[in-house]
Amino acid sequence: MSQRVKVKQILLDENTNYDVVVKGWIRSFRNNQFIALNDGSTNNNLQIVLEPDSITPDILKRLTTGAAISVKGAVIPSLGKGQRVEVKAAELEILGDCDPEKYPLQLKNRPSLEYLREIAHLRFRTNTFGAIFRVRHALAFAVHKFFNERGFVYLHTPIITASDAEGAGEMFHVTTLDIKNPPLGENGEIDYKEDFFGKATNLTVSGQLEGELGAMAFGDIYTFGPTFRAENSNTARHLAEFWMIEPEMAFYDLEDNMNLAEAFIKSVIGYVLENNREDLEFLAQRLEEEDKQKPQQERSELGLIPKLEFVLNNEFERLTYTEAIDILKNSKPNKTKKFNYIIEEWGADLQSEHERFLVEKHFRKPVILTDYPKAIKAFYMKQNEDGKTVRAMDILFPGIGEIVGGSQREENYDKLVTRMEEMHLPVNEMSWYLDTRRFGACPHAGFGLGFERLVLFVTGMGNIRDVIPFPRTPKSAEF
Ligand code: 4AD
Ligand code: MG
Repeated sequence: MSQRVKVKQILLDENTNYDVVVKGWIRSFRNNQFIALNDGSTNNNLQIVLEPDSITPDILKRLTTGAAISVKGAVIPSLGKGQRVEVKAAELEILGDCDPEKYPLQLKNRPSLEYLREIAHLRFRTNTFGAIFRVRHALAFAVHKFFNERGFVYLHTPIITASDAEGAGEMFHVTTLDIKNPPLGENGEIDYKEDFFGKATNLTVSGQLEGELGAMAFGDIYTFGPTFRAENSNTARHLAEFWMIEPEMAFYDLEDNMNLAEAFIKSVIGYVLENNREDLEFLAQRLEEEDKQKPQQERSELGLIPKLEFVLNNEFERLTYTEAIDILKNSKPNKTKKFNYIIEEWGADLQSEHERFLVEKHFRKPVILTDYPKAIKAFYMKQNEDGKTVRAMDILFPGIGEIVGGSQREENYDKLVTRMEEMHLPVNEMSWYLDTRRFGACPHAGFGLGFERLVLFVTGMGNIRDVIPFPRTPKSAEF
């Protein structure tokens, strides 16, 4: 009996003259004889050749783009140009019709990304999104592979939590209360005691604090899960729901943390370069065509694959925030719109124009910035001796900006509590977290990498909505 075989496998197989069953969707049908079949395993279609007289007119009419079919036949060397092998159909069954009048992907020309975002429920069926999400999958696999090989424990941290890990207040609240008519306390405030959890809860903004609990027992852990930010920023780099990878390591200092982050990013990029060549080449070609439509100064300097190889083969530049401010102050950004930033004073948070100048113009490579002013960073970061800065690190990438945020953590109980009080954080409610500093505290560090920003970089796409299967932004959350 012949078995169902994936198209990718048939195209890779050196052998011919064997029987297979293939199932997939019709990409095109021409001359009443040649079907281009796609089953999602690769962007390359399998040519199915029909015997001209073997198909009834009724079936011929139903062989439309998008229809699902099953074909039984022999894999033979192709007589035509453009493919090494093809399948000579012996039996063909239509599993699901697709009305050509109504099917939105019937278009002859390549549909725009904007249009595909409107029909995001169907966009997986295009070559571009096929390539993107196979690469995304491979990157996710490479993340687990990297940490597993180093003995890290994958820790599942909660999605519903009462803590605001970043202290930034950008949270989606979760409640079982009737918010139109909530129970009120004595001072007119919402009385969360009646809520399911007895207190206000929210969707997690980061698994870090829970991750620290794990690191204090397992040594090395990582999380990889969805995180939520209720920031109303409609940019090409922000999502309301994104996936974050957060390793946390006991006995690591900031330098160990930087070394791990750099090795991690290089490892996952190396993995897709080795294993997803075909999809990366497709995306590189797409980018090249897109670039041709742009004015000269906005075009990418390197192709997609050389850009990834460059990251792999070069050390990231490491410098402090203070050194970066000096560079920004002493450089005269050229007057092109691209790098025309306002020079900042020490203490200000860096804007994306500053980050882009440092990465794309000054160093022309990924940059790790450390030791930021404590006023612009989260409460848990280890304070430096100078009293002004913390052991923070941000990794900045060309075309992306911040891809990683992390730090060595403050392990000193008194210093941490003082900082939390200064920042008006609820010290009493976080005694579970502070226990890590009471019972066997040790130096430790960790970071968070925004998975979609990594996928953006690796695929060369320009908008974060195009690298997550179901983007959650103020405009799109219907499914
Ligand atoms: O810099 P962030 O806020 O750091 C943390 O959450 C720390 N708790 C991480 C840690 O030390 N364990 O976020 C980390 C990364 C950013 O560098 C960015 O790549 C990504 O998460 N990120 C977003 N990605 C998409 N959409 C958003 N709204 C994002 N906000 C942050
Ligand atoms: Mg950050």
